[in-house]
Amino acid sequence: MSLIAPSILSADFGHLAAEIRAVEAAGADWIHLDVMDGHFVPNLTIGPLVVSAIRPCTKLPFDCHLMIESPEKFVAEFARAGADIITVHVEATPHLHRIISQVRDLGKKVGVSLNPATPLSLVETVLTEIDLLLVMTVNPGFGGQPFILSMLEKIASARRLIDEKAPHVLLEVDGGITVENVGTVVAHGARVIVAGATVFKSDDYRRTIAALKSA
Ligand code: DX5
Ligand code: ZN
Repeated sequence: MSLIAPSILSADFGHLAAEIRAVEAAGADWIHLDVMDGHFVPNLTIGPLVVSAIRPCTKLPFDCHLMIESPEKFVAEFARAGADIITVHVEATPHLHRIISQVRDLGKKVGVSLNPATPLSLVETVLTEIDLLLVMTVNPGFGGQPFILSMLEKIASARRLIDEKAPHVLLEVDGGITVENVGTVVAHGARVIVAGATVFKSDDYRRTIAALKSA
């Protein structure tokens, strides 16, 4: 059974606290927070201030996906704000190994993410140092984009690499996951499913999360 991490990017930001409580009550495992800086991706979303404001709403882990340049400048602030897992993009820093240690030293779990066009080989040298590998299945920046089908092969390759070198690493996928395609995604090896539009645009969070989880 997979872990489901609804992405609040598609939630009603006017009622963020209520939305988070609703997905927790509906069976979500983590809350996925998409942090965008307008440079690494062509969109701007939330910063540490919002993360700390919503921290009291839920006991669920905050899965903080940093789509920002120079993440080393901000990881401490996100840790203080209440992030439990901090994921950085390999494309966003020239010193991946250093930032992984930085997040660890903050006492947080550390994830590394790959854009669709970025080869899996870039994370091989750090695989044993991380807790989570996030394979993007859309180009990051916006919710509600279609799943890039060629990413299935990358998910399967990531699964093999993890099984061989670092079985403790959780394989997470993010972007375009639907009730229809989640079964295939899980069959290729994903274990943590991020879902934004599929959950928050549905009229029954509980039913949708249960359907995603049972895949
Ligand atoms: C994309 C974000 C995703 C996004 C997923 O840049 O990283 O987390 O919210 O949204 P859906 O599930 O709607 O594709
Ligand atoms: Zn995300």
